[in-house]
Amino acid sequence: MTGTQKNAIARFFDAAAAALSTGCRAARAVYDFKDDAAPAEAQAALEKIAAEVRACRACKLCEERRNAVPGEGVRRPLVLVVGEGPGADEDASGRPFVGPAGKLLDQMLSSIGLSRDKNCFIANIVKCRPPENREPEANETSRCVGYLERQTDALRPLVIVSTGRTSTGTLLHMGGGIRRLRGSWKTYRGIPLLPTFHPSYLLRDPDQKRLAWEDMKSLCRRLAELDPAYRAQTAALRAGRNI
Ligand code: URA
Repeated sequence: MTGTQKNAIARFFDAAAAALSTGCRAARAVYDFKDDAAPAEAQAALEKIAAEVRACRACKLCEERRNAVPGEGVRRPLVLVVGEGPGADEDASGRPFVGPAGKLLDQMLSSIGLSRDKNCFIANIVKCRPPENREPEANETSRCVGYLERQTDALRPLVIVSTGRTSTGTLLHMGGGIRRLRGSWKTYRGIPLLPTFHPSYLLRDPDQKRLAWEDMKSLCRRLAELDPAYRAQTAALRAGRNI
């Protein structure tokens, strides 16, 4: 993909974010309490999981990692976003989604009033970087996914967004491509789950960005149904954009 195409995607989500920010400003402070609302046990559980992840040697991915990447965000999120696994930037920093795909993910979330600072938690199926950014193998996902299960139980997000085929297929035990799975609400551990495109896929195939935006709108509608603060925060935006 060319730099021009990448910029076009970034502009698309930036414009959506700007349109949304007017409606979001008034209620933003409400979200500042989300993190405080996490009980001490949840906080302790998340810290324990992160410490175990950093010490984990359950599969061969530990051999080449610089940093394991447990995940980050608020402790009582509206949304748990699940990616596939760390890439080079994440391996170097120990933080999820900080490279080009992460920048796009942040723009997508921001377009509907979401961010990892205020109301989301970002994690991956595997916590260590697969060499050369290859897909994680089945024996790696099966040894790692228990961490995500425990994170999900501790975080108790209102909804989960799985990005791409690997994370969606692993969580739902379903085969098939993301173009078939995306946009259709499912359930994971009793929590509504929306599969959508992985941001890296959107960087490679910008033609899918309209469908990605449809998914963001579906997520926005679902959150508005489930969370009164989010509903109030995004009322103007949803009315203005027919979400
Ligand atoms: N891609 C992912 O799936 N996860 C990350 O953390 C970064 C890129």
